[in-house]
Amino acid sequence: MGEGLAGDPAPYYETHVFVCNNRRPEGHPRGDCASKGSEKIRDYMKVRVKELGLQNIRINQSGCLDRCELGPCAVFYPEGVWYRLDSFKAVDEVIEKHLQNHGRAKDLMLP
Ligand code: FES
Repeated sequence: MGEGLAGDPAPYYETHVFVCNNRRPEGHPRGDCASKGSEKIRDYMKVRVKELGLQNIRINQSGCLDRCELGPCAVFYPEGVWYRLDSFKAVDEVIEKHLQNHGRAKDLMLP
């Protein structure tokens, strides 16, 4: 992912997180993130970011991000870093390491 071009406005959000909330019919061969709990993950993340008073962070749900087998997945922009977030504990870790400390939650990152 490249840098913005000269003259582009500054990014509107410091970090914009998309959590896949796609749900497919039961038995679909690719599975989906919603049936692995991603709706609760997204809600929890949103609440925690607000409780912690983190500014300029946006948590959005998204449709399928096409990495279904690795989910529940989320992608953080502008970094373009992907995470597998399968528990509230994972969310706490990614908030602390990525959003608060501007580092990476390496053990949760997708390749
Ligand atoms: S269902 Fe979440 S990435 Fe496809």
